[in-house]
Amino acid sequence: MAINKGPDALPTDLVHRDCAWWQSAVGYQIYPASFADSNGDGIGDIPGIIGKLDYLADLGIGFIWLSPVYASPMVDNGYDISDYRAINPIFGTMEDMDRLIAEARARNIGIVMDLVVNYTSDQHPWFRAAQADRQSPYRDYYIWRDQPPAKGTPADIEASFGGPAWTQDSECGDWYFHLFAPQQLDLNWTNPALRAAIHAMMNWWLEKGVAGFRMDVIDLIGKQPEQGIVADGPELHRYLREMHEATLTGRDAVTVGEAWSATTQNAPLYSAPERREVSMVFQFGHVTQFWDEKLGKWKPKPIDWPKLKATFATWQAALHGQGWNSLFWGNHDLPRAVSRYGDEGDHRVASAKALATILHLMEGTPYIYQGEEIGMTNAGFTHIDQYRDVETLNFHRIQLAQGVEESAFLAGARANSRDNARTPMQWSAKEHAGFTQGEPWISVNANYLSLNVEQDRADPNGVFNHYRRLIALRQEHAVIRLGDFRLLLPDHPALVAYQRSLGDDTLLVIANMSGDAVKLPVSDIPVVQRPDLLTGTQVSTQAGVELDPYAAFAIWL
Ligand code: GLC
Ligand code: CA
Repeated sequence: MAINKGPDALPTDLVHRDCAWWQSAVGYQIYPASFADSNGDGIGDIPGIIGKLDYLADLGIGFIWLSPVYASPMVDNGYDISDYRAINPIFGTMEDMDRLIAEARARNIGIVMDLVVNYTSDQHPWFRAAQADRQSPYRDYYIWRDQPPAKGTPADIEASFGGPAWTQDSECGDWYFHLFAPQQLDLNWTNPALRAAIHAMMNWWLEKGVAGFRMDVIDLIGKQPEQGIVADGPELHRYLREMHEATLTGRDAVTVGEAWSATTQNAPLYSAPERREVSMVFQFGHVTQFWDEKLGKWKPKPIDWPKLKATFATWQAALHGQGWNSLFWGNHDLPRAVSRYGDEGDHRVASAKALATILHLMEGTPYIYQGEEIGMTNAGFTHIDQYRDVETLNFHRIQLAQGVEESAFLAGARANSRDNARTPMQWSAKEHAGFTQGEPWISVNANYLSLNVEQDRADPNGVFNHYRRLIALRQEHAVIRLGDFRLLLPDHPALVAYQRSLGDDTLLVIANMSGDAVKLPVSDIPVVQRPDLLTGTQVSTQAGVELDPYAAFAIWL
């Protein structure tokens, strides 16, 4: 592959001859409301982010995925946009945004905007116009019916946040389609004028110097509600190709599509090198496989490591050379990685590091969700009034009405509510974890006195320094960027073991993902004694060698 120069936003040390810049970069997601508050109103903001850029540069990330900061009435915390070209005053100004792009670039960090184009807010001028006048050119930007669909017909669809997906508009009396909250109106992607307006907006941001887009629920834009088709509609890839041609061609941007419907069969359609509609998708097989068949995320199943390993192995194989993987444990919609997959109690630090090791040494672009790099844990909320998330509050109402016990719902929310990831970033042991001088919009996790950046980062064996080393290793070794993947010990209930190979280099990764000491089994892993790449300590692969709870290492074979 030719040398990829990349936009000037890009870290020069991320430019490798063997891959695109975003294939060696590590992404970091910022949920602005909860990251850093600069003005004491209790809500994180863009100047707050700018103040933490040195911290992120030290971690070694290549780009920031910035959750929405656009103008928004905040029904879904900014995922309901009323102006794509304006900044929500609670987050700052467009000057702050321009400064963020420039200051990040000065530290070789790209800014990846959240592109939320499956719907707009009901406050968007397009919708105001559509609602006011059936003859408006914006009328057809949305999806209408003159009456709700009959029960049981294909268009009788349920919204993701609960309730029917059709709502009667109070102004014009017609029914509009929405896959999420009633204030988030689905856009009509069959309308070429709407598509052109989105492309123009994307180009506007690219010209400002952003490094790319994370595309919110992008697998829904090809929906055909009258046919009952929601995800992965027949025109989806035509729209994505068209979008690519109109905005991304000739630019070295990174794009990552959120695609809950992605499977190993259809994922290459998005990211195969010859198509590259997007650089990669976020796929959720490793998340949803542990949800209840009926109650979904509200009744999570325990993690079954052989099943989880099998999912990773399938994805690694399916996209090797055929596309590109994204690698993540958490985001703003998911519980904290260490609480879900590790042990947030006695083994918090070790399990956070082990999770990082197994994720970051696979093939793909790893994403860190804010706070994961210090091993932040779930919120630990015990009352419904501690929650802020529209999804959690809606389902609380719905499930209680259906007869679910309050305590059962709260147990589910404690495990899987989106607010687990949305409590403020814990910077220090100061009041409100150093996140704000005011009252935070959502409570700080009670554990901030002993779990915060200041403390963790000062510890050479802390979580932060472990992530730092993992990010650096990806830069140093082509086998981590591009090597093929082979799962070892697939049936072992606690050990995650795999090897990566490229040319003469073979890397072996082994982690004990349990709270008990585990002996290495007799296996076909070569017996060697080598220094762990991450800690420098000698480790051996001899059968019978005991791994401490959540011990993990990576060695050369
Ligand atoms: C995406 C976002 C989520 C949002 C949803 C609907 O899944 O990640 O936060 O609530 O879209 O807006
Ligand atoms: Ca603020």
